[in-house]
Amino acid sequence: MPSLQQIRTALEGSGQAHVLRFWPELGSEQQEVFLRELAQLDLPRLEEHCRAAAQAAAAAQAACAPDRDLEPNLEPVPPESMGSVRRSDPDCLSGWEREGFLQISRSRVAVLLLAGGQGTRLGVSYPKGMFDVGLPSGKTLYQIQAERILKIQELAERRLGSKCTVPWYIMTSEFTLEPTKTFFQDNAHFGLQPSNILMFEQRMIPAVTFDGKVILEGKGKVAMAPDGNGGLYQALEDNGVLEDMERRGVEFVHVYCVDNILVKMADPLFVGFCVANQPHRRLCGWSPRHPNLGDCGAKVVAKAHPAEPVGVVCRVGGVPQVVEYSEIRPETARLRGSDGELVYSAGNICNHFFTRSFLQDVVETFKDQLKPHVALKKVPFVDSCGNQVKPTEPNGIKMEKFVFDVFPFSRNFVVLEVQREDEFSPLKNADGAPADTPTTARNALLAQHCRWAAAAGAALLDEQGIGTPMPPSSSPENRPALKCEISPLVSYFGEGLELLKGKTIRTPFILDGAAAAELQA
Ligand code: UTP
Repeated sequence: MPSLQQIRTALEGSGQAHVLRFWPELGSEQQEVFLRELAQLDLPRLEEHCRAAAQAAAAAQAACAPDRDLEPNLEPVPPESMGSVRRSDPDCLSGWEREGFLQISRSRVAVLLLAGGQGTRLGVSYPKGMFDVGLPSGKTLYQIQAERILKIQELAERRLGSKCTVPWYIMTSEFTLEPTKTFFQDNAHFGLQPSNILMFEQRMIPAVTFDGKVILEGKGKVAMAPDGNGGLYQALEDNGVLEDMERRGVEFVHVYCVDNILVKMADPLFVGFCVANQPHRRLCGWSPRHPNLGDCGAKVVAKAHPAEPVGVVCRVGGVPQVVEYSEIRPETARLRGSDGELVYSAGNICNHFFTRSFLQDVVETFKDQLKPHVALKKVPFVDSCGNQVKPTEPNGIKMEKFVFDVFPFSRNFVVLEVQREDEFSPLKNADGAPADTPTTARNALLAQHCRWAAAAGAALLDEQGIGTPMPPSSSPENRPALKCEISPLVSYFGEGLELLKGKTIRTPFILDGAAAAELQA
């Protein structure tokens, strides 16, 4: 570990001498902790990091308009690289699903959760995965995801007759690792084998002021932030994750965000769609339309309206990537094709497929080419007099890499469009915000389960015992749904609900194992 003097010299050399401003005021224990923290900073590159952050923030503020150079090179993902739950041939869909189950049953598929974020918009002091959105069961996001893994393993085993494992890799950060670990232990890992849950930590980098100074969060603490969900690739290398996958025989990885309550863990249809579209593969029973695709895949949902603020999966100069909504001119965003659909409608939902070998290529060759993005945030700090300040306006720059910025390195990039109401309802904000809140997430899940129950032939009654018509699948998420909740341990995606046929069910109702047994008795 470098000495205090060495650190002081390095900080002075990079214009960051203020970091040690309060050193004499710290007790010896605080000094020891602070020194250890400073020793972990990438001191040789600190000056470059601070300068780059300040420059990037200034450039971003100057250029928050559409990028005119980009437009002539912009094109949608070509149809031969796309599948769609809505539009693809049903035989193709079932072929993809079969292929996905086959891969899962051979334990070749893992799920990888991005859970290192700070969840500042939601505003809770614990990891987002521990959040309870107020479902009748009180389940947290982590529990729902764990149970979906258990169920998909069981379904694959039942279909293919071989025992299998879907390992769960969880990327955490300094903020989320310990509480997540403890939460899993306290909940007996939700029934999963602890040895199949692998948590690892991403790197942290200092937050910086607009004039390129490291922010002090306390007198003996630098304000650090995780390096974005694109920090995944560095973290895979730091923690030997790909080696672990290789040892387990994992070939395909489904990567997703912690906050999507509808996420289909290891979705066999998505996995099969991407796998089936790899070179040299032939599926029995049907032939892939595009045999040359599939090392990297993105699930997307159709944009709700042209101005919806989501990144769009498209191609720029023939190279796949996600273009931010603000970079596209409104008239381009409004363009419609001959089928009446938006030309640039592939909304990115941060739900991806990678082959292990693609991840290996990224880690070995491409990860240092990922450009960090600038996020302007309110970062609590101590002022020069040592007073603690909680800013009301953004005062700091956090540099974040994005997980999808590896798309350009893909050789065979494919996109699967899925139904938003079935697969995407993110939890970003606290209740009171217009979108993506605990209420909208809860309603999206309950509405989906009501649709499953109705499709299985059940009649649902509200709390007064009155039958109400099913909401159409496109009804807004903030419309309260009947409280019908189906445990993932009973059904992964609406299958296996024959036991509800002809039943009249008064809500609130939780269909778990015990309720299912009672209905069948
Ligand atoms: P968001 O960009 O929505 O960030 O993350 P967040 O941290 O959840 O929330 P805010 O912006 O502070 O309010 C999308 C996904 O990427 C993960 C998050 O945990 C979430 O699953 N993420 C984000 C990371 O794993 N690491 C990061 O450094 C940032």
